[in-house]
Amino acid sequence: VAPLKVGIAGLGTVGAEVVRLIETQARVLAGRSGRGIRVVAVTARSKAKKRGIDLRGVEWAKDPMALATHPEVDCFVELMGGAGDPALSAVDAALGAGKSVVTANKALLAKHGLKLAKAAEKHGGALNFEAAVGAAIPVIKTLREGLAGTGINRVYGILNGTCNYILTRMEQEGLSFAECLKDAQRLGYAEANPSFDVDGHDTAQKLAILASLAFGTKVAQSAVYVEGISSIAPEDLRAAADLGYRVKLLGVAVRTAKGIEQRVHPTMVPKSSSIAQVMGVTNAVTIDGEGIPPITLVGPGAGGAATASAVVADIADVARGIRANPFGRPISQLRDTKKAPMERH
Ligand code: HSE
Repeated sequence: VAPLKVGIAGLGTVGAEVVRLIETQARVLAGRSGRGIRVVAVTARSKAKKRGIDLRGVEWAKDPMALATHPEVDCFVELMGGAGDPALSAVDAALGAGKSVVTANKALLAKHGLKLAKAAEKHGGALNFEAAVGAAIPVIKTLREGLAGTGINRVYGILNGTCNYILTRMEQEGLSFAECLKDAQRLGYAEANPSFDVDGHDTAQKLAILASLAFGTKVAQSAVYVEGISSIAPEDLRAAADLGYRVKLLGVAVRTAKGIEQRVHPTMVPKSSSIAQVMGVTNAVTIDGEGIPPITLVGPGAGGAATASAVVADIADVARGIRANPFGRPISQLRDTKKAPMERH
């Protein structure tokens, strides 16, 4: 069988690690997929940057669009980020050409996921995005495949590694918000614009994706009520601790009598609860399914290696010829998301 030919747009920490994993894990991946996986072309802002990866024999495409429509590329891997162009038009063009797409881009999916899923459905390519939520935690697959036969009542959790890292260090070390954020940026956890993290938008994007998979609603970030953590000070965390609580930024999507409610805000959780034990860059997602006790997935939610792990697994699915409906069902079956009611529970 011919190898799957991959084109990668974006060679930051995630992209470079994907190239490395495809090489070092080649035998395991070929065993799982029944065929080889080969990076044939890439594109990135800087060709000269030192990345510590071997790109000999790999073509440099002139821009993301040229890579997305490259006749040699079967699977376009989008790791540039950003809800707009160049990511949007490149992904759209790759799907329009019948190629499969793997992306870690939650902003793109939360804003244009429906349109892109329609293109994938029409032209037959896969649209895989396991890395977009909870990095290495297989939460998309869990909702889409693992729990396909289970009704979901609620999905909630800690979905932003940067915020949890900041809250953890502020509480444990009494450091200022700004100092902790700087460290999260240095460690490669934060978004290029870190206000997406601290203002709650990154969590909202991930929650919108999870809610779509859990409840069969059209993915829409605009349906999420959002409040971030930027006004929280170490004293607030101490006051909560004195009362036996910890503060976590939670994303919650729940089925209510009025529809699906989606919200993101700082929440006081009892110190003895399991979610309060989730520290640092770790993410945790709890899924309440009908007739079964809750399932919680915990793991690294950000960082190059954790994100690359999920990207490579998605590429392996493409190589195997597995093609899921991106949001779990045919687009025609997805329901409209009503604006979520604002009240807290
Ligand atoms: N900035 C994100 C986070 C990266 O901190 O969780 C992973 O999506």
